[in-house]
Amino acid sequence: MCGIVGYVGTKKASPILINGLKRLEYRGYDSAGISTIEKDGISLMKDMGRVKNLENISGINDLEGTIGIAHTRWATHGKPSKENSHPHMDNSKKFSVVHNGIIENYESLREDLKSKGYTFYSDTDTENIPNLIHYYYTKYENEKGIERFLKSVRSACLDLKGSFAIEVICSDFPDNMIVVRKDSPLVIGKAEGENYLSSDIPAILSFTRTFYLLDDYEFAILSKDDVKFYDKDLNPVNKEVKSIEWDAVGADKNGYEDYMLKEIYEQATSTRETVGTRFQGPKTAFEELDFTKEYLSSLTRIYIVACGTAMHAGLAGKTVIEKLSKIPTEVDVASEFRYRDPLVDEKTLCIFLTQSGETADTIAALKLSKEKGAKTLAISNVIGSSITREADLSIYTHAGPEIAVASTKAYTSQVVLMNVLAIYMSEVLENNDQKYLDSLKEEILELPEKVEETLKISESLKDFARQVYQEKDVFYLGRGVDHAIATEGCLKLKEISYIHSESYAGGELKHGTIALIEKGITVIGVLTDKNLVKKSISNLQEVITRGAKTLIITNQKDLDTKAFDVVVTIPESNTFISPVLAVIPLQLFAYYVAKEKGLDVDKPRNLAKSVTVE
Ligand code: AGP
Ligand code: GLU
Repeated sequence: MCGIVGYVGTKKASPILINGLKRLEYRGYDSAGISTIEKDGISLMKDMGRVKNLENISGINDLEGTIGIAHTRWATHGKPSKENSHPHMDNSKKFSVVHNGIIENYESLREDLKSKGYTFYSDTDTENIPNLIHYYYTKYENEKGIERFLKSVRSACLDLKGSFAIEVICSDFPDNMIVVRKDSPLVIGKAEGENYLSSDIPAILSFTRTFYLLDDYEFAILSKDDVKFYDKDLNPVNKEVKSIEWDAVGADKNGYEDYMLKEIYEQATSTRETVGTRFQGPKTAFEELDFTKEYLSSLTRIYIVACGTAMHAGLAGKTVIEKLSKIPTEVDVASEFRYRDPLVDEKTLCIFLTQSGETADTIAALKLSKEKGAKTLAISNVIGSSITREADLSIYTHAGPEIAVASTKAYTSQVVLMNVLAIYMSEVLENNDQKYLDSLKEEILELPEKVEETLKISESLKDFARQVYQEKDVFYLGRGVDHAIATEGCLKLKEISYIHSESYAGGELKHGTIALIEKGITVIGVLTDKNLVKKSISNLQEVITRGAKTLIITNQKDLDTKAFDVVVTIPESNTFISPVLAVIPLQLFAYYVAKEKGLDVDKPRNLAKSVTVE
C-alpha cells in the first residue's frame, strides 16, 4: 500500500515530488508529506488527507532543495493523522524516512529504542526506522564518508522484520539518498543528470523510460549523476537498466472524468493488446513458456491463485483451462492457500494472477509453491513487477497502466489471456480437434468489436443506477461461469458505491439467503450460459415472486424477458469468453451508482490499488 516518490537532481524537488504523489495517490490517500534537503537542514511538511492539502501548506513553494522524498499513506499502524504521516525523522532531525510496508517487530524495537533514550512522537511502526538508523550512525562514528550512512541503513534494515520500501535522506550528505526494499515495491528511474524513485513505473513515466528494478535487500546510493547498488552484505552489484515501452498518456485520464471510466472504455483496445500476435501462426505463440506435451501430461492438478478481482478472473479462467486441458483445476484465494498446506508438488502447475504483481499474499503463495516443487507461472500486467521476478515463468496481460483502484480492464485481459493460454496448452497436449481450437481463436479475435458494441449500452444502466443508488442491499445471481461474473460485478458495486451486495450461485439462494428478499429489493441476474439459463430464470422467478426488482444481463436472443424490469442484451459469445462481455454492464452499473452518490470512484475509502501488506 502507499506510494513513495523520490527525486535527486538539479531541479526544485518539491513540485516533482507532489506531481509524483498525485499519480500514486491511488495507492493510499489518508495523508501525505515531503522532506527535502535545504541549505539549513532537512525540511518536513505533511498533513492529513489528500495530496492537495499538502500543496496548501504555507512555505511548500519556497522549498529550494533538489533532493527529496515523499509519501502518500495507507495507514496500517496508527490512525490517519498529521503526526502519523510520513516522512518520519529521528530525534536529532538528521535523518528523514518514508516507508511503505509493515514492520512486524515494531513493538520490541520501540521498547528497545526507548530504553536507549529515544522518544516517539507517532504511533507508527515506521518511526522506529529513522531512530534505528541514527542509533547505528552513532555506533559507526569512526567510519568515513557515505559508508557510515550506508552501513547504518543496512544495520537498521537487518533489525526489521516485515516488509519495507524505504527512502532515507541525511543532512550530513546533502547530495545523496539511500534506498532499499524488501517485499514492497520500489523502482528507480534514470534520466540525464537526475534520478527518480517511485512505487510504480507509471508515476514517473513522463520523466524517463529507463528503470532499475531493485531486488529484496538491495541497497542503492543515489546522486544526481549516478546510482550505486549493493547487496545485503554491501558488496557492489552491477544492475542492468530496463527500458519500458508504455506510453505515458496511458497513465493520464485522457479527457475522461475518472480513470475508472477511461479504463472501462479502453477494454476493446486492452483485450486486443492482450492477444497481440499470439494467433498469427498456425499454432498459438507462447515463446515465454517451455511447456512440453510430456510435462503437461504429467500434471495432476493446476492451481490458479489470486486475490480479489484477479481471483474472480481465475474463476472464469478455470472453466476454459479445465475444459481444454482436461487437467483438474482449482482456484484459491492467495491468503488462504498460503496457510493451508496445499497439496502441491512437481506434478502441480501453479498459476498466479495479479494485475500489480505486488500483492503480498499472492507473492507469498508463489514462494510456497516453488518450495513445494511446483512450476510457477505469473500472469501480471506490470512488467518487471516483484512476482514476475520470483516466478519460474511469466506472461503479461499488456492491458496498459490501470490506475483506478477498482480493477476493470485488468480483469478482462486476464480472462482473455487465460483463454489464449488454455488453447496453447491444448495445442501442446494435442488433445482437442484443431478446428475446434481455431474456432475459439476466431471468437477471441472478434472480441474487441463485441466489446465496442457492449460499451454502447449505457443509458438503461444509468437509469437503473438512478433507481438503485439509495438502496442498502443488492443481490447478484448466476450459475456456473455466470456466478463468477456476478461475483466480480458484486465486488465492483461494493468497492466504489459502498452498497452492501452479495453474489450467489442461483441454486444456493433458497438455502437461506432468500429470507432477505422482500418487496423492492434489487436482484441482478447474469444469464449467458445457455445450458444454465433456464435454471437461473427459475431462481430469478423465485425472487420476483417475493417482490424483487430485477436487472438481467444476457446474450440469449430468444429469451422470454417479460418478467424482468431491465434487460441488457450483450453480443453472443461462447461461455469461455462471455465474462469479458458480461462484466462490462456490471462495471458501468457500479460506476453510475457511485457517481449518483457523488463518490470518488477512483479512490474508494479504505482501499488501495496495490495490497503490498498481508
Ligand atoms: C479490484 O477491484 C480490487 N481493488 C482488488 O480486489 C484487487 O483485484 C486485488 O487486490 C488483487 O490485486 P492484484 O491483481 O494487483 O494482485
Ligand atoms: N506501516 C506504515 C504506516 O502505517 C506505512 C504504511 C504505508 O505503507 O502507507 O505508517
